[in-house]
Amino acid sequence: MEKKRIGFDLLIFEDTNELSQNEQKLLKTAEEVRSNAYAPYSNFKVGAAALLENGEIVIGSNQENASYPAGLCAERVAVFQAGARFPGVAIKALAISAASADHVVDKPAAPCGNCRQSIMEYEQKQQAPITLLLKAEKGPIYKCTSMGDILPLAFNSSFLGDS
Ligand code: THU
Repeated sequence: MEKKRIGFDLLIFEDTNELSQNEQKLLKTAEEVRSNAYAPYSNFKVGAAALLENGEIVIGSNQENASYPAGLCAERVAVFQAGARFPGVAIKALAISAASADHVVDKPAAPCGNCRQSIMEYEQKQQAPITLLLKAEKGPIYKCTSMGDILPLAFNSSFLGDS
């Protein structure tokens, strides 16, 4: 039997001014577009901003539906939009900002399982990591240098026999 520990380095910043100018701008964009969320059911608004290798920033916010599962998270709105508008252009970083109308969110919300899987597909396709920057209304900023870090043992197309 072999036992293997899988871990990653989570970078924790106490203040946005510890981030690079580009990272600050991306996070600010995610915070701004959070207000575009359509979240009448959860009152939990999320904004996302993806920085592409061509310098474009593509945004997203969560869009809910009376048929709950039909809604989509902010991260996938942003990343799918990036894929639709700029096919073949790599995503370098994704900033995510979350806040609730009902209570103070004081720690970063990491992407849900479906978003991790979806974003992982892009990371695999572009063969380059996507940095994640996560922040709530209050509290620290989390930085992960790759989606793969938070989705170890990911399922991907190699299991389907096409690579
Ligand atoms: N949500 C996101 O947009 N991103 C996340 O990372 C977690 C959850 C949305 C989905 C739903 O509209 C609301 O937040 C509550 O789950």
